[in-house]
Amino acid sequence: MPVHTTPQGWILETAHTAYAFGINAAGHLVHRYWGLKLPDLQDYPAPFLSDSEISFINPPHLSREEFQAYGGLRYSEPSLKVTSSSGVRDTVLQFVRSEVAENLLTLDLQDELIGLQVRLHYRVHADTDLIERWVTVKNAGSHTFELERVFSALWHLPEEQTYRLTHLTGQWLDEFRIHKDVLSEGTKTIESRTLTTSHHHNPFFMLDRAGEGQAFEDHGDVWFGLLAWSGNWKITAEVTHAQSTRLGIGLNDWDFAWTLEPGASFETPVALAGYTREGFGGASRRLHQHIRAEVVPHKNLKRRVLYNSWEATLFDVNLEGQSQLAEVAARMGIELFVMDDGWFHGRKWDTAGLGDWWPDAEKFPDGLTPLVNKVKSLGMDFGLWVEPEMVNPDSDLYRAHPEWVYHFEGRHRNEARNQLILNLGREDVQDYLIDLLDQLLSEHDISFIKWDFNRYVSEPGWPAFAGNAKELWVRHVQGLYRVWGTLRERHPAVVWQTCSGGGGRADAGMFHLADQAWISDCTDPSARLQIQEGYSLAYPASTMEAWATDWGKDRFSLEFRFHVAMCGVLGIGGHILHWPEEDREEAARLIALYKDIRHLVHEGDLFRLRSPSQDVISGVQYVSRDQQEAVVFAFRTHHPRYSQKTWRFRLKGLNPNARYTVEGFEGARSGQAWMEDGFPLELAEFQSKVLKVTQI
Ligand code: DGJ
Repeated sequence: MPVHTTPQGWILETAHTAYAFGINAAGHLVHRYWGLKLPDLQDYPAPFLSDSEISFINPPHLSREEFQAYGGLRYSEPSLKVTSSSGVRDTVLQFVRSEVAENLLTLDLQDELIGLQVRLHYRVHADTDLIERWVTVKNAGSHTFELERVFSALWHLPEEQTYRLTHLTGQWLDEFRIHKDVLSEGTKTIESRTLTTSHHHNPFFMLDRAGEGQAFEDHGDVWFGLLAWSGNWKITAEVTHAQSTRLGIGLNDWDFAWTLEPGASFETPVALAGYTREGFGGASRRLHQHIRAEVVPHKNLKRRVLYNSWEATLFDVNLEGQSQLAEVAARMGIELFVMDDGWFHGRKWDTAGLGDWWPDAEKFPDGLTPLVNKVKSLGMDFGLWVEPEMVNPDSDLYRAHPEWVYHFEGRHRNEARNQLILNLGREDVQDYLIDLLDQLLSEHDISFIKWDFNRYVSEPGWPAFAGNAKELWVRHVQGLYRVWGTLRERHPAVVWQTCSGGGGRADAGMFHLADQAWISDCTDPSARLQIQEGYSLAYPASTMEAWATDWGKDRFSLEFRFHVAMCGVLGIGGHILHWPEEDREEAARLIALYKDIRHLVHEGDLFRLRSPSQDVISGVQYVSRDQQEAVVFAFRTHHPRYSQKTWRFRLKGLNPNARYTVEGFEGARSGQAWMEDGFPLELAEFQSKVLKVTQI
């Protein structure tokens, strides 16, 4: 049983960990423990209540509450802030009841005075040591509430320790940079205010101890988690004056409001978190396993090697040019041909067309069917790019419905990339998109859609909305999920890619809809190594689309560019019509190699061997879950130490007692030997290697 109800409270147990909380003597639901599983249920500490009665230091504000509502003598970051139309602006929660159903625990709390009910949900994933949390808030009173903040979870760390926050920062073309900050008294906030997940931060965290007791890649205590949400989000990592570290995660409360009329409820997105003693690598593998097994729509999908037209032809797509690309792509062994931007009505450049999702009559006089048929006849599947949430002012849609975009009456509408954002909070906009895209998918044999989002919000107004327009931050994402979800239901075989100018919308909310993500518009292979490493902290390689392109071709061989892209879902994005025949032949050889090892990349456990952000020598390894086989990718960008020719790679994740061969090395050795002693690998500047590891 993963959920235990005891006189002291509740204990959520996973394969290796435990998470405990309970009601203290003052009736508050408080955190008790989060760490390695202890032998007995009686081992966990009792719910704590401070006996301090000093005027500035009172028990409630020294408590570590599971879900802290603003009210009483509490001054740290709340999980909930509500204003009632009765004038009451605080919330005092009392425990009402709990219920257990297999791996699910729900706790009901309420504020009787104002009639607010709060339900905390916990779902335990014992195998992966993960816990999901989310919250439902219900207005059971007679006044209207304004929700001002409602987080999904508050996670508490063991007390009286100093922690380091690992998070992912970046910008367009430079996403998923790994950043580490030691936390001190006060609050470190990371967030998005962009309407989308954003390139700047990702809703993901890892915490380890700072200094002595710090974690490393392969060992040490790490508490980690993420939020499954694709709009404005917020993480507050707070150290209180009493040396208590806690992390709140949820919808961003910045410019947010949600009106709850009597009888209405609001449900937050899901926050996922876990603890491991196996370092950052162990934390990543748990998230990867969860996203692969529990989140993505197609659980056992064989991700196809794809070609994407963007970097080759930009907006200049037409039947003839795309057919020529498709012919070469098919000869190289590509399985999915994706036509990117430029195919729809009026789209000559990025100044026009968004919103009019039907084929451009000049470029495709007989529609898309001739190209789809051509691609299918070459033995490939066909995929298409769309950007449904956007509109160019120069489009039929905008001319008909200028009121459908976010705007404030009388205010200039700021364009970015010559486009405005459709208000997906509106049901008429959602229905329009569902109808149009459903038609596109029904009329053509399309098996893959790349869904893009190429700007951040401005003028977040909704003048026609009868309620509080600050709800639009959430309503947009709910609308997006409805449109996308409906299309997925109607076309279940279609595979979707999430993209937002590269990696601006890669998150666990999206992975309920999309099987893969485009994680950066930067395809320079050496920059890409770092971007891919950062992405791998949170998300699995099976979701990471990566292309070998012409970017960096003056410095990096075709093989190197391919090897980098083969660390995820391989795509080719170069102008293959311009490639010499020997490059196409080499590409065909590399694609064949990839098909041979992709099950390891997509389904295996990822081990980061050497970090590209620490050194010019880097490597990753993917090990099959049964430890029968593995594949190693090794890279050398440049290196100033010309005297050094070889670098040692120590493998990870093998069965220590089984015997393995490593491609290129004589003889079999134990897994232990390959892991402890490893092997020296000769790598010239800008050289890469892929080595198969096989158990004998
Ligand atoms: C941004 C994406 O990241 C690119 O891959 C490409 O699809 C362009 N948009 C098309 O406009």
